[in-house]
Amino acid sequence: MPKLTNTPRKIVAFTGSGISAPSGISTFRSAGGLWEQHRIEDVATPEGWAKNPELVLQFYNDRRKALSAVAPNEAHRCLAALEERFEVVVVTQNVDDLHERAGSTQVVHLHGELRKARSTLDDTTIVDVGYSAIHIGQMCPRGGQFRPHIVWFGEEVMLLDVARQHITEADRFVVVGTSLNVFPAAALAWHAGATAKKFIIDPDPPETPPGFRVIRGSAEIELPVLTRQWMEKP
Ligand code: OAD
Repeated sequence: MPKLTNTPRKIVAFTGSGISAPSGISTFRSAGGLWEQHRIEDVATPEGWAKNPELVLQFYNDRRKALSAVAPNEAHRCLAALEERFEVVVVTQNVDDLHERAGSTQVVHLHGELRKARSTLDDTTIVDVGYSAIHIGQMCPRGGQFRPHIVWFGEEVMLLDVARQHITEADRFVVVGTSLNVFPAAALAWHAGATAKKFIIDPDPPETPPGFRVIRGSAEIELPVLTRQWMEKP
């Protein structure tokens, strides 16, 4: 069906830890990033969980506590503000809640959410734990230990089809703060349509598919520039 002329254009932002870096959240692979300080195998795999669940819970309890002490930055706020004029979907690899706290209403979390716990007995029993710790012995009503609602390496990415659909429909697609290292999520960058206007914002941009305008710089500086342009010239 042809689009009505007054139909707002659709913007999809595909975000990674770099958008939350100016808020004080660690990235994973930059110098001093989380994966320099912790072994992925120990804290972000089902095998790590089987071997030492206390260590895994501690790792994510620390992340959750750190999240409670930070706030969204200008980049998160810009994506929320764009909703005044456009349909905006944020597809994020981040497990923080900074997009939601900035006011974004359509956020697709590919790698789970720090504020949630789910039962090891039943994937559909998911609870909001806020910023509090999950402990050994914290059980669902059926007696399954709660674990972080996070996608570990080797586990299935959440909502991949939903994310892909949004990205294919985007008129404007902006990739912000991801090294595009972790698949299958990273492959989404290749799914924007040929006619979509495509941008990547990153101080150290990864290789992107053809057709992207590369904006070298920090998200909280460059996303406001792009947002102003889009608000003035929808
Ligand atoms: P990475 O640490 O791999 O990449 C962070 C990216 O953000 C890099 O390209 C940086 O250059 C960029 N960056 C740093 N500061 C920035 C700023 N101020 N503004 C904009 N960009 C900035 O993090 P991700 O790509 O998010 O998954 O990592 C993807 C996944 O790997 C994560 O979701 C996580 C991790 O393992 C799981 O744990 C499953």
